[in-house]
Amino acid sequence: MKKSIFAPGVVKLFGEHAVVYGKPAIAAAIDKGVYIDCVSSDRLVVETVGITTGLRFSPLDRRVEAFGAEKFFAYVETALRLAQERWGDLAAKFTIRSDLPPSAGAATSAAVSVGILKAYALCAGADVGDEEAAKLGHKVELEVQGIASPMDTAAVTYGGVLKILTNPFRAEPLKIQLPPFYIVLLPRLGTTGEIVKDVRALLGKRKSATWVIEAIGKVVEEAEGCLRAGDLECVGELMDINNWLLGALGVVDGRVVDLLGMLKPFIYGGKISGAGRGGIVILIPKEGDVVSRILKGLGYPYYKVSVYPKGAGEV
Ligand code: MEV
Repeated sequence: MKKSIFAPGVVKLFGEHAVVYGKPAIAAAIDKGVYIDCVSSDRLVVETVGITTGLRFSPLDRRVEAFGAEKFFAYVETALRLAQERWGDLAAKFTIRSDLPPSAGAATSAAVSVGILKAYALCAGADVGDEEAAKLGHKVELEVQGIASPMDTAAVTYGGVLKILTNPFRAEPLKIQLPPFYIVLLPRLGTTGEIVKDVRALLGKRKSATWVIEAIGKVVEEAEGCLRAGDLECVGELMDINNWLLGALGVVDGRVVDLLGMLKPFIYGGKISGAGRGGIVILIPKEGDVVSRILKGLGYPYYKVSVYPKGAGEV
């Protein structure tokens, strides 16, 4: 019998990068993400549909048929290994579909990691609580990326809008209403791991960069108040400020600046989401129809998304 898990993607409303250095952040699960089906089989097989054409992977002989798939499958393979260590061997076929392309900045790596862990446990007839799923998912990201905060895996696991606090790590649900918003996908110039390492190198070299991290932390605190008050003008302005601060860390390029500049009259504000250098740009629309029309004309893929109130789970 087929069992299915949906693991939501995640956007960072405020605070990415600074969260790696102990500052708070605000993340939101969205209604686009990763679907993982599991059916019994004579061996462990994983295949993807639509992520890259005709991609097929056998974890047993480590065969990957398609260029560029290695990174995505590193998460899949690591999650499978941890699941196998935790719940024992499983002969099953997993089929993975994603609404969003991998490596865009929508935490598809966290979604696929937590999703595989949840699907494996479900199909093995085991129970996995959210705390354990989030912890194991973070372990997958750490193994594959080298550096990763627990933010993305927590947001995939718990869903909704979360304030992320570090030292010790906590993910506090923020009971707020955020109207649907847009995400635009720009081609990515670098992986999350590479970009996070570049920021770390800059911080090691330039004292001034550490004040940028401090400032992002302050923006997050103020943004929480605006989100709680439902004040979209304030949310948008603080997104713009957060985006310029991320620019000072070298992760926002001209394409993002041009896009936000062009859309300025029709949005409250916007910013990159995730590691940056392209990837996802969030737009909080004032005039959604105009924003859609302009985005269509520009030819970038874009989606209108809503906050997904639940975490990864059976559908
Ligand atoms: C990546 O989605 C978000 C970063 O803050 C890195 C992390 O938190 O691990 C850039």
